[in-house]
Amino acid sequence: MLRSHTCGELHADHTGQEVTLCGWANARRDHGGLIFIDLRDRYGLTQVVFYPETQAELFKIAETIRPEWVLQIKGVVTKRIEGTQNARMATGDVELVASELTILNKAKTPPFEINNSDTNVNEELRLEYRYLDMRTERMQKNIALRSKVFQIIREYFIAQDCLEIDTPCLIKGTPEGAREYLVPSRVYPGNFFVLPQSPQQLKQLCMVGGMDRYFQIARCFRDEDLRGDRQPEFLQLDYEMSFCTEEDVRAVIQGSLEQIIQKCSPKPLKNGKVESYTWKHVMNTYGSDKPDLRYDLPITDISDIAADCGFEVFEKALQAKGTVRALRVPGGADLSRKEIDVWTELAKELKAKGLAYILLKEEGPVSPLLKFFKEGFLEKLMEQTGAKTGDALFFGADTFSIVCAALSRIRSEAARRFNLIDTSVHALFWVTDFPMFEENDDGSLTFSHHPFTSPNPGQWKNRKEKPLDVHAVCYDLVLDGYELGSGSIRIHDPVLQQEVFDMLGISPEDQQKRFGHILKAFEYGAPPHGGFAYGIDRVVMILAGEPNIREVTPFPKDQKAKDLMLSAPSPVPEKQLKELGIKVVEE
Ligand code: AMO
Ligand code: AMP
Repeated sequence: MLRSHTCGELHADHTGQEVTLCGWANARRDHGGLIFIDLRDRYGLTQVVFYPETQAELFKIAETIRPEWVLQIKGVVTKRIEGTQNARMATGDVELVASELTILNKAKTPPFEINNSDTNVNEELRLEYRYLDMRTERMQKNIALRSKVFQIIREYFIAQDCLEIDTPCLIKGTPEGAREYLVPSRVYPGNFFVLPQSPQQLKQLCMVGGMDRYFQIARCFRDEDLRGDRQPEFLQLDYEMSFCTEEDVRAVIQGSLEQIIQKCSPKPLKNGKVESYTWKHVMNTYGSDKPDLRYDLPITDISDIAADCGFEVFEKALQAKGTVRALRVPGGADLSRKEIDVWTELAKELKAKGLAYILLKEEGPVSPLLKFFKEGFLEKLMEQTGAKTGDALFFGADTFSIVCAALSRIRSEAARRFNLIDTSVHALFWVTDFPMFEENDDGSLTFSHHPFTSPNPGQWKNRKEKPLDVHAVCYDLVLDGYELGSGSIRIHDPVLQQEVFDMLGISPEDQQKRFGHILKAFEYGAPPHGGFAYGIDRVVMILAGEPNIREVTPFPKDQKAKDLMLSAPSPVPEKQLKELGIKVVEE
């Protein structure tokens, strides 16, 4: 090694030793004839000092050092004089008195400062120069945390008697609800590989292959609209086991996350445990299948009292077989007109027609609805929702899904606005009993998890009459308001698998074309099996307290799915396209 120590490890016990450090010039300070250079590497910072009288030659070179130059410095570890110690630095008790200085490489002035904690550096610039951004304390911390999570996962799942099995990325489509990335085949022009949205089918085929317990840190690809918690490619902890119940899968997965949280976060789990709720419960109570339960703020169904309340918007929604629900915001009576307008727009983005409200002010209720209400309705409302003077009530009147979406959005806005989030804990919980199917806008059915999920056996016989009432043996994990992962007990019977494909409107020919391999495999002794996958990037994002997963992804795409550092995607030479039999059609 070109160094004897790292920049993060020297302390008083090393006093008197001659050492060699390598790193980047974090900062150079010229102080009353002395020069200080803070040398930085991944392990920390060490202050190096140069004296003009005793080290005239060296001093002259030190004067030329600029930020981010790469240096090798030999010197003697010396105790700092009383009063100049720096308690914020791990090496703050000592400094290195330089005796040799080698410039290993020079650097241009970086496009942004590496050594300050300014979080307002333009993100595009950070992504274009990710290798410089990586030198910042924030990124170094996040990438190290990510690595620690990988390590805990590997140790945990190997201790669970799992085999780590890698599955290919050049495969055939696996429906998980997103658009797929395609890779053209040169050998078979006009044919394409599909990059996996997840290793779902392959891990199930491993179970047919008798592997019994599998895990993988799997790269997945999804071409979907990007949000803060999504990337076009990301990592899943992917898990599958045979001869198990839902409880068995959940116990293994929960154990892994409990370990990760305990080892990587200073915050405990809320109430010290992981709760479990049905899909129906969380939708009815919080309007979302991934509510943030670090705060309560429940939604109240007021359909029973609103049917004859005098306000046409409520009554009509109920006549159309919809629902009317209210969100009580404690202390919300002081919300300004402007804030309510902003929230109304948020509700409208989610297809709500408006956001009715009542402000229960000291001097009396304020609302555009009061003039419509029949006598006594306001009192009934307050009783049912528990609202008191000083609170605000917000209402949604529409279909169940629109009301849930709108009020759940307002619920999270209100929690932020009134500081209701208990940021000293993590809220981790299960959501179970999801519906098997969801309805598309055109009335056709789609799967709510994926088409390999087992339906609730008792309800399956009613699938033709009431498909939306059939639940799946499937379960999600939610952490601090983010969907961490999903899993299910799978179908292992080829007849049942075909019935599910039939319900999804996939013709027998298409079933063979798209899923013939799995239907065939199920005819050769598929064991009962189940599994789960959680997003590792999301876990790290939450534990790092970062607002989006780009901050914890070493080389992320930007919000428009572009790699700004590599300038990808980009055009390729005509010759390469020709080989693939591809012609680009100009718009
Ligand atoms: P699902 O589609 O729910 O399940 O994905 C599991 C988890 O992967 C993470 N995730 C993402 N993370 C970052 N960017 C994305 N674009 C992205 N999409 C998903 C989420 C999500 O909860 N095969 C099933 C699992 C199974 O049944 O075993 C699956 O992929 O945290
Ligand atoms: P309007 O009578 O349309 O002026 O609406 C009166 C109030 O009810 C306004 O505050 C609207 O934002 C709100 N509102 C209208 N339609 C709905 C709806 N479907 N759900 C909830 N609030 C609504």
